[in-house]
Amino acid sequence: MISRQDNHMQKLIRLLTTAAANAALYHPEHRQVLRLNKQALSTLHQLFNLHSDITLRVIEEQLIFTNKPVEENLAVTRLIESLTRNGISHLQIEPDVCAEELLALIIILSKTPDKQIEIKGSQNIHFGQIEIRYKDSESTHLDLADIAEYEADRFMDLYQSVRNKQKLEMTGIIDIVNGFVDAFNSQSDSFMAIAPLRSMDEYTYTHSTNICMLNLAQAKVLGIEGQLLNDIGIAAMLHDVGKMFISPDILSKSGKLDEEEWRIMQQHPRLGAEYLLNTPGVPRLAVVTAYEHHMRYDNAGYPKIAHPWQQHICSQMTAISDTYDAMRTHRAYEESLETDQIISIMLDLAGNKLHPQLTYSFLQILSDLDKNTDFSNYTAS
Ligand SMILES: [Fe+2]
Ligand SMILES: [Fe+2]
Repeated sequence: MISRQDNHMQKLIRLLTTAAANAALYHPEHRQVLRLNKQALSTLHQLFNLHSDITLRVIEEQLIFTNKPVEENLAVTRLIESLTRNGISHLQIEPDVCAEELLALIIILSKTPDKQIEIKGSQNIHFGQIEIRYKDSESTHLDLADIAEYEADRFMDLYQSVRNKQKLEMTGIIDIVNGFVDAFNSQSDSFMAIAPLRSMDEYTYTHSTNICMLNLAQAKVLGIEGQLLNDIGIAAMLHDVGKMFISPDILSKSGKLDEEEWRIMQQHPRLGAEYLLNTPGVPRLAVVTAYEHHMRYDNAGYPKIAHPWQQHICSQMTAISDTYDAMRTHRAYEESLETDQIISIMLDLAGNKLHPQLTYSFLQILSDLDKNTDFSNYTAS
C-alpha cells in the first residue's frame, strides 16, 4: 500500500521537476514556476510533519528516501538525472526552508549542460557533491511526452479559468502548442507519445494534448507547415473547451447519459465556439473546429444544420483524432480495445462518420508507427 509519506514525496518530486522543466523552457520567474514552487513548499511542510529533516540520496541510479528506494516514474527519473548531471549525490532540506531557497534548488535542477549555474547550498538546503558527469546531450532533450507532462498543471489552470468564467489566456495555449510543434518537428515518431487517461480531472488535458499530437501528425503527412500547422494544433487543444460549461456531473458520469443529459452534452460545440469567438487572439480555425468537430462527414452529427454543410478539413481531422483517442484512452468502466479492433471500427466509420481518405491516411500513420512501436506500452491502465 502507498503510504501518506510516499504520496507526499512523489508529489514533491513531481512539483520540483515540473517547475524545473518550466524554468528551463521559460524563465525561473515565470508565473507557473512560482506557483509550482509555492505548492512544493507546502508539500514539503506536510512532509516535515512526518520527518524532522528530508534527505534524498542517489545510490546506484536509485533515489533513496528513509532508507528505501522511491518508486520510479518519469518525475523520479528526471530528478535522478538532474541531480546526477549536477554531481549531487545527496540533497538535504531542513524545516525552515523558504520559497527563495527552494526556487534556487529548482534553478539548479533546471540546469542543462549548455548553461552554467553555480551549485551552491543555502542555510536550509545542503548538497553532497560527487564528481560532475555529463550524460550525452540527448538525455536532456525534452520530448513530446515530457512537455505534455510538464505542461499539465498549466493547461489545467487555463481551462479552470474558463470554468470560472474568466478570459482564456491565449498566450499560454500558444506557448504550449509551439512547444509541441517544435518537438514534433524534431522527432517524427513522437506521435505515439499520446498519453493514457490518468484521472478524470486530468481528462480534459490528456484528451486535448492527445488530439493536438494526433492532429499534428495528420497535418504533417498532408504537408502542412508553418502558421497553419500551429493553428491546427491550437484548434485541437481548444476543440472541447465548451465542455467547461457543462456540469462535471454529466461529464464524469460513469454510464450512459439519459436523454436530457445527452441534450446538454451536445451543446458543447456551440458553447465552445461562442466562447472562443469572444476571446481575443483565438485563430478563427479554432472557432470553426470547436463548432464542427461532432458534425460528422455525413452531416448526421451535431449541431444540426438545416442545409448541407462541408466541415473544414481541420474539423474532420479532429473528428478522426477524437474517435481514435476515445477508443484508446478507455475509462475505468469501459473495456479497452485492441489496436486491430480500433482499426476495423475506424474502417467501418470511414465514409460515414469520418472522411474516408483522411481516415485511411491516419490508419497509414498508425500502421507505419506500429512497425516500430509496441502499442501495449500506451494502453491506459
Ligand atoms: Fe467534443
Ligand atoms: Fe473531444
